[in-house]
Amino acid sequence: MTIVEKYRPSFHYTPRKGWMNDPNGLVYFDGEYHLFYQHDNYDRVFQNMSWGHAISTDLVHWEEYPKAIVPDDDGLGMIFSGSAVVDKNNCAGFGANTLIAFYTSTNPRQQQCMAYSTDKGRTWTKYSGNPVIKNVQGGNIPNDFRDPKVIWHEDSQKWIMSLAVQDHIDFWSSRNLKDWEKESEFGHGSGSHNGVWECPDLFELEVDGDKNNKKWVLIVSINPGGPNGGSATQYFIGDFKEADGKLTFISDQKDEKWIDYGTDNYAGVTWFNIQNKVISIGWMSNWSYADKVPTENWRGAMTIPRELKLKNIQGDIIVTSEPIEALQRKFEHTIATTADVKINSDIKVGKELSSSRIKMKVDIDEVSDVGIEFSNRVGENIRIGYNLAKWYLYVDRSNSGKVDYAPILNKLHKAKLERRLDKLDMEIFVDKSSVEVFFNGGEYVMTEIIFPTEEFSMVKVYSDNKTEIREFQIESLSGI
Ligand code: FRU
Repeated sequence: MTIVEKYRPSFHYTPRKGWMNDPNGLVYFDGEYHLFYQHDNYDRVFQNMSWGHAISTDLVHWEEYPKAIVPDDDGLGMIFSGSAVVDKNNCAGFGANTLIAFYTSTNPRQQQCMAYSTDKGRTWTKYSGNPVIKNVQGGNIPNDFRDPKVIWHEDSQKWIMSLAVQDHIDFWSSRNLKDWEKESEFGHGSGSHNGVWECPDLFELEVDGDKNNKKWVLIVSINPGGPNGGSATQYFIGDFKEADGKLTFISDQKDEKWIDYGTDNYAGVTWFNIQNKVISIGWMSNWSYADKVPTENWRGAMTIPRELKLKNIQGDIIVTSEPIEALQRKFEHTIATTADVKINSDIKVGKELSSSRIKMKVDIDEVSDVGIEFSNRVGENIRIGYNLAKWYLYVDRSNSGKVDYAPILNKLHKAKLERRLDKLDMEIFVDKSSVEVFFNGGEYVMTEIIFPTEEFSMVKVYSDNKTEIREFQIESLSGI
């Protein structure tokens, strides 16, 4: 019997069966991109957390592999989130080019452990000396001590581990990946603190592609406390360097910055060992309703992979997100263009709309509300637009179909703007049960999951005043 899974996406990674949350152990090695993830393959609920595993050679087509790291009789409990590196120079002594993973074990408290693979990530051995970082914290920080993200730091010639510790990030360093020493902390008094800090990531990027102007970015997921409720990912721009003899993240950022303003991009981190690019992927859900989403057999999808860049936008340096090139090339078949659009009237597209890319550029001189609506024959819709009167970008999913899994969060989601935008340019990826909206080349992103009872098949560009469409295109997915 074939089971119809109407919410299973076409170009987003989902596990065949069971539950998935955070991406883990993102590493590129020998022509393969590894995606590990928080997984339980028995049921669609959070339990027995292990590292699931998928491999891709292009970040677009994924093949699921057996679970990579699982709880066993070491007594250390579940396998929570973490990262992986290629130990090119055999710092740890397991051999040159060994893949080394770092994860948090949960029993009796959260501590950092290590596992290694000498067969291109197919099988993993837990290190006999685990945990490599013990939880010796007392006081009021009993257990939030997790999600090790390890990178190689060229300047100090050390491995650096970022760790989430309740309300701040710890930085630890090591030369052999086994013995770790605490360097510093960041976050007390910085950024958003309406929830627990989780899943950090630290990397360096050029501003506007200028080799002589690099900055460090620290990503921190927070749950709850997101701009539209529930979990979300904030970031800090600064420097990572030695200060008073310790490697320290320093930032004078005053405002809160968010990787994504939608409610469904969480715990996103970046791949280790991709040259000259920073590519991230996130979990397309939200802790406030993740266990209730109405999918069949599986629960939890990843976002599309995104290239992160630093851009100076009118004096403000921000992280932008762009869908990766290899995925862009999969949308080749044009199904509607500018000539098909009449403002405020529906274009009948058909079911190809439910796995498609939409590009739209409009003139915004005289309008105060402009956007695009996807709808179906039973009157459900999602509206994505720009409210110029009140200065926000939005996704309104309050009437998008099944919404009762998140009674409080299924509403109008906003990205509040600090300045008036001088153009509106949207690129939207629709895939059965999600929309990912990249505004103005990825300056603002909103990722949202949706569960229409019937596929969206109609599109309308709406506006409350005379609007000129500069560009409009719907392209369907081919060959995945
Ligand atoms: C983030 C998180 C991590 C933890 C993992 C458990 O979503 O809470 O902090 O390691 O999920 O699955």
